Amino acid sequence: MLVSIRNILAADEVAYCRQELAKSAWVDGKVTAGEQSAKAKTNLQIPQNSEISEKLGSLILHALARSETFTSAALPLRVFPPLFNRYDEGMNFGLHVDNSIRPDPKTGFRIRTDVSSTLFLSDSDEYEGGELEIEDTYGSHKVKLSAGDLVLYPASSLHRVCPVTGGSRWASFFWTQSMVKDDNARTLLYKMDQSIRSVRQRVPDDDHAVLTLTSVYHNLIRHWAEL
Ligand code: NI
Repeated sequence: MLVSIRNILAADEVAYCRQELAKSAWVDGKVTAGEQSAKAKTNLQIPQNSEISEKLGSLILHALARSETFTSAALPLRVFPPLFNRYDEGMNFGLHVDNSIRPDPKTGFRIRTDVSSTLFLSDSDEYEGGELEIEDTYGSHKVKLSAGDLVLYPASSLHRVCPVTGGSRWASFFWTQSMVKDDNARTLLYKMDQSIRSVRQRVPDDDHAVLTLTSVYHNLIRHWAEL
């Protein structure tokens, strides 16, 4: 399931991230790539353990925690510390799949990457090309969102960042280990949660059908969640 979420970061938070990133030292993005994907990758990144990456990463983790949609779609157990990348003119990341297991650079604790996220820090009119293209069973989807918006998709998908042909594309990216590792199960739960929320706005709080649906939702999570 591919879900776009608008305004994960407010405009002033995007501006703050951009200003801090502009002052930082960028390194070759191959440092976080696996053997196969390193060959396909030309971009720049902020070093994983840098102070700036931790500071801005924590701002993003707080922003995710206040997003009901992110919680509903990702059902996060652990979120990998957010990373930051940049594609200048001529840079791209060819078709690849993300590593399935990643050690947290600080704690060494391993997380299973169930959900991949990209949080756009550049507006779509600041660069040409640079779409995130994700393949799934329904074909391929090109995503290019506004600064502050996020897209999440199954980390099992093949995906690429199309070549940037002008300007510069800045983003944060990270992985989430979900309480529900199966994408199909997570999709059902997300749709159910969204529908219950929508129905709940139109019926009284004690409506028995809504109470029953809510209990089914929670009992499915109880059934599928691994902590
Ligand atoms: Ni990737």
